[in-house]
Amino acid sequence: MANQRSLAEVITQWSGTLAVFGSTGFIAYQTLQGKISLGSLVMYYQAFQRGQSLLRESLSSLAILYENSLFLSNFYQFLNLEPKVIDPPFPRPIPQPLKFGIEFNRVKFHYPHHSIRPVLEDITLTIEPGETIAIVGENGAGKTSLIKLICRLYDPTEGQITWDGIDLREFNISELRQQITVVFQDYVHYNVTVRENIGFGELKLLQQEEMIYQAARQAGVENAVVKLPYGYDTILGHEFEEGEELSIGEWQKIAIARAFLRQASIIILDEPTSALDAEAEAEVLSKFRQLAHNRTAILISHRLSTVRLADRIFVLEGGKITETGTHEELLKLEGTYAHLFATQAQHYR
Ligand SMILES: Nc1ncnc2c1ncn2[C@@H]1O[C@H](COP(=O)(O)OP(=O)(O)O)[C@@H](O)[C@H]1O
Ligand SMILES: [Mg+2]
Repeated sequence: MANQRSLAEVITQWSGTLAVFGSTGFIAYQTLQGKISLGSLVMYYQAFQRGQSLLRESLSSLAILYENSLFLSNFYQFLNLEPKVIDPPFPRPIPQPLKFGIEFNRVKFHYPHHSIRPVLEDITLTIEPGETIAIVGENGAGKTSLIKLICRLYDPTEGQITWDGIDLREFNISELRQQITVVFQDYVHYNVTVRENIGFGELKLLQQEEMIYQAARQAGVENAVVKLPYGYDTILGHEFEEGEELSIGEWQKIAIARAFLRQASIIILDEPTSALDAEAEAEVLSKFRQLAHNRTAILISHRLSTVRLADRIFVLEGGKITETGTHEELLKLEGTYAHLFATQAQHYR
């Protein structure tokens, strides 16, 4: 495109220059011949120059107009997109507390507008209330997608997910999401103060300093925050001049604190400790256990040392659940899990 543009520019510049020289030459010739006066020559020349610059200006305005309209048409196209995941006309109240659990019933899922190769296939599982489950599997196995379905960021292509026997699609979406707190793998780094970064987990607690400090403590980030120039009022990130950049591990802990602040009945951590060292991770996870006490928790991690603490472990391979059980049961099975565990354990010996 840049090449084409330069070529077009060269051609128009040259033809413009030729036109200017040609007509100036013509006027000069006419003057020399005595056909027009010297005064007329000056006038023609100036008029010509003025005309040229006016023309150039209006053409470039037209070009800008055209460019903007292209941009705006994209924008309007975006605004006209209809959400695919919608509230039901008559939402049902969400049973609280969760009594029987969350159930996946032969769930199949592929991303809309992408290949029809399913990301998840024939997923049937029950997460009981108060239970901590773990999902392990290679990159691309579909772990994050499974979480997105629970949060109703997408709906299953086939099958259903139920909450105490009621299809998730029968609830009001924001009420459902209010029940869930989740740290996604690609959580947001808000370029605002530490206080707000944590407080965004539960907006109504934004002014409750003690709660925010407690969440920071539980996530093990308090010491790092206290060292910042303005403590909890320090702006994070480099968007603003006075912003302080944190390490990836510290950002992760901030995101975990944000999740801990929220008193939701289901807590989900999607590989939230990948950038933490073993010690910090153990600390965060022990706090997670305390918090998850009586709550339903889902833990995703490829570090099997952290997964051991779960009540039940699901192994996800290529969108299917291939093994289920406790850490010991899975080791006895001598399948994928046992193999993964043996490979990882080697690093620690
Ligand atoms: N937004 C998306 N649109 C289309 N395909 C996606 C999207 N997100 C993930 N995928 C695909 O779905 C599969 C599973 O991804 P994911 O659930 O993120 O796996 P995991 O969390 O286990 O690494 C991958 O093949 C990935 O390419
Ligand atoms: Mg993932």
